[in-house]
Amino acid sequence: MDFENIYIEEENNLATITINRPKKLNALNKRTIEELHVAFKELDEDNETKVIIITGSGEKAFVAGADISEFSDYSVKEGRQLAAAGQRKLFDFVENLSTPVIAAINGFALGGGLELAMASHFRVASSNARMGLPEVSLGVIPGYGGTQRLPQLVGKGRAMEMIMTAGMVDSDKAFGYGLVNHVVSSEELLPFCRKIASRISNNSAVAIKHAIKAVNAGFKYDADGYSVEIDAFGSCFGTDDFKEGTTAFLEKRKADFPGS
Ligand code: COA
Repeated sequence: MDFENIYIEEENNLATITINRPKKLNALNKRTIEELHVAFKELDEDNETKVIIITGSGEKAFVAGADISEFSDYSVKEGRQLAAAGQRKLFDFVENLSTPVIAAINGFALGGGLELAMASHFRVASSNARMGLPEVSLGVIPGYGGTQRLPQLVGKGRAMEMIMTAGMVDSDKAFGYGLVNHVVSSEELLPFCRKIASRISNNSAVAIKHAIKAVNAGFKYDADGYSVEIDAFGSCFGTDDFKEGTTAFLEKRKADFPGS
């Protein structure tokens, strides 16, 4: 697929996906969601890619939401389909990806933008970032998982207030809420995320894949996180990464994980 609305940079086992519609504040139209699906899928299947960073182009926005111009005349059925397809192709897809995904929030993360950041495994914000779920100001609700993931991350009361007021929080408040893990300057945002990514990539990709699955299971109503953890823990014992990790420790050297 030729990408029109995103671009990918790859360096040292790290891929950065940049959403590139700055004139529309990187709003997520259908095409962009499709491109992101393909990009995440291909990078996840590529064993060389150990960590993915997702960010927005320009200084103003990570993503200012779903593209309002695309759905303003939708019917009830089309609205349902929009949410279902988006969740399947992008938001649930990213959350359940085996490769760690870090959202580098470089400006406005609103509506679908904040939902994409929340579907990522964790978030780092620049000090000028502003985050919110403004959907009720448009007569709709968050449809890309926002009503579920925001309470998981910040607690029910704060999520209710953010959703009901349709207001934005700045990066310091988001940090206090636990919505973002770190706040750094705009210039530092990508270098900082790459530093964390590099630390992640020294570890076993197979073990990380199992850890993502076990952590996510705890937030699924139809899964028992503890059982998933037991199975995932057991699976690790059959991997080459486990042999290498434990052998390297006992031999007092740095592990060089084969990735299987
Ligand atoms: N969907 C479609 N287009 C969007 C958009 C969105 N979610 N967010 C911004 N844009 C477009 C604007 O329409 C404008 O396009 P134009 O230049 O062709 O008119 C362009 O991006 C720049 O946005 P603008 O509103 O002029 O910038 P601003 O600095 O005045 O305001 C925001 C920035 C983020 C406060 C404002 O754009 C906004 O409220 N966007 C919508 C946020 C939202 O409700 N998201 C949830 C959607 S479900």
